[in-house]
Amino acid sequence: MVYMETVAVIFGGRSAEHDVSIVTALASIIKPLELTKKYRVEAVYIAKDGAWYWDDKLKDIKLFTSGGIQDYLHRAQPASVQFDGGMMLVKASGIAGRKQTRKVDLVFPAMHGTYGEDGALMGLLDMTGIPYVGCGVSASAVCMNKVLAKKVALGCGLPVSDYMSFHKSFIERDASTLLKTILKRLTLPLFVKPAHLGSSIGITRATSETELRNALEVAAHYDDEVIVEEEVPNLIEVTLPIMGNDQPKPALLEQPMTKPEDFFDFDTKYLQGGKKGKGTAKGAQGYSQIPADLPKDLYKQAEELGLNVYRVMGCSGIARVDMLIDSKAKKAYFNEVNPLPGGLYAHNWNKAGVSNVELVERLISFAKERHAQRQSLATSFSTNYLQQF
Ligand SMILES: Nc1ncnc2c1ncn2[C@@H]1O[C@H](COP(=O)(O)OP(=O)(O)O)[C@@H](O)[C@H]1O
Ligand SMILES: [Mg+2]
Repeated sequence: MVYMETVAVIFGGRSAEHDVSIVTALASIIKPLELTKKYRVEAVYIAKDGAWYWDDKLKDIKLFTSGGIQDYLHRAQPASVQFDGGMMLVKASGIAGRKQTRKVDLVFPAMHGTYGEDGALMGLLDMTGIPYVGCGVSASAVCMNKVLAKKVALGCGLPVSDYMSFHKSFIERDASTLLKTILKRLTLPLFVKPAHLGSSIGITRATSETELRNALEVAAHYDDEVIVEEEVPNLIEVTLPIMGNDQPKPALLEQPMTKPEDFFDFDTKYLQGGKKGKGTAKGAQGYSQIPADLPKDLYKQAEELGLNVYRVMGCSGIARVDMLIDSKAKKAYFNEVNPLPGGLYAHNWNKAGVSNVELVERLISFAKERHAQRQSLATSFSTNYLQQF
């Protein structure tokens, strides 16, 4: 029999986007991976309490949509992972004392947000030495921190809206001085955001000093680090899914059609997709226009900005770059990068001519390519340091 590579899809996790991750994993990754008939696909689910489970039953979306998962978790034994010479899944087999094991050849992380998309999982995988899909530790960590991402983009000469960032202790110690400093440097209206959380949690648009004061408190409630940035006026939001390692290729520039007043609403982004707007395609952010209806030069400008952001952040495999366009000034600004776009943004790739199956297959080959490149780097050298003692 031909050896089938084992791909472990890891999803769920200790993050606000736990539920989104389940749908990404089951619908956009596991299903097409199984259709290829090339891989043995293992579902590895991290529950909200951080325990790991490995079971074919976890491939069934109904287990999660019906609420049956609670009952399952109540009965099931968590799995464990061994790291000797790679990565091995281990669980009780049902036969007393016996263990069931599976050696993993490649990991397909499907986690959004903290402990998954932010580099934490990638660090663990780097230690095991096995290949995995998507961005590595540093790119993931930078992208998931709005302050760091802005600094990197700015340092590389890419356009970002004017901003300030600070530790929350400044707000607690002397909010009045901080307010004055902010208002001296930046012009209202301002967007106040926690540095780390995604999905618009803790984000406020402030149009006055009083609103700014409240907005700072809200953001500091969610994060140690807070970012305050000037509003991009005449706003058109666009997002660009990108794939690849050294030679990243874009999908189509997409324009989510959600209304500005809905911007902070988690439900609008993820839950009510089908009910809003009259756009052309249903994506993870409701209806959207694909490709975005922009003048050619503005489209090109945003596409180039997206690709440059992908490169300077050191992304690999896949990511999605969000940009804010001032439609009057015809200028695109970098907003943020999502190292693991919800549902891999397959709806957009499909329009760009890449099927769901091709998408996961390409991602696996990028993962192997990156892994091979990293292995070819020198990681040890000899010194006579120890002989000196
Ligand atoms: N500087 C800005 N100018 C105009 N609108 C903004 C700005 N920053 C954020 N927004 C609006 O707020 C939304 C959420 O902000 P974003 O930084 O994308 O956070 P999230 O992590 O929640 O996606 C954006 O999609 C956009 O509609
Ligand atoms: Mg966003």
